[in-house]
Amino acid sequence: MEFTAVARDEEVQEGHALRRLVGGEPVALFRVGGQVYCIDDTCTHAYASLSEGKVNGRIVTCPLHGGQFDIPTGRPVHLPVVEAVAVHPVRVEAGQVLVGYEPASEDDDYE
Ligand code: FES
Repeated sequence: MEFTAVARDEEVQEGHALRRLVGGEPVALFRVGGQVYCIDDTCTHAYASLSEGKVNGRIVTCPLHGGQFDIPTGRPVHLPVVEAVAVHPVRVEAGQVLVGYEPASEDDDYE
């Protein structure tokens, strides 16, 4: 697993989401109870961007159909979502937020 810096710590605010690309994939950053969390940005229901959703405490509501996820665990908590979103490990070092991801292996290339 590799960690990459995606934001400054103070950019991640309670009640708001921050969209970033990590390893080419969109993720959403949130602050819940002072802690920074990172989940996949794409809703597991129909591919809306969760960073455009409403954040209330530890819950993000998808902007498309109102499905809800628990941010720290990625678990679905309100229909129509039934599948969890991936949660990515986060480290905060020297004022930078770093997100862990698995880099694509060379086996994934089709050349
Ligand atoms: S796309 Fe998110 S609830 Fe439908």
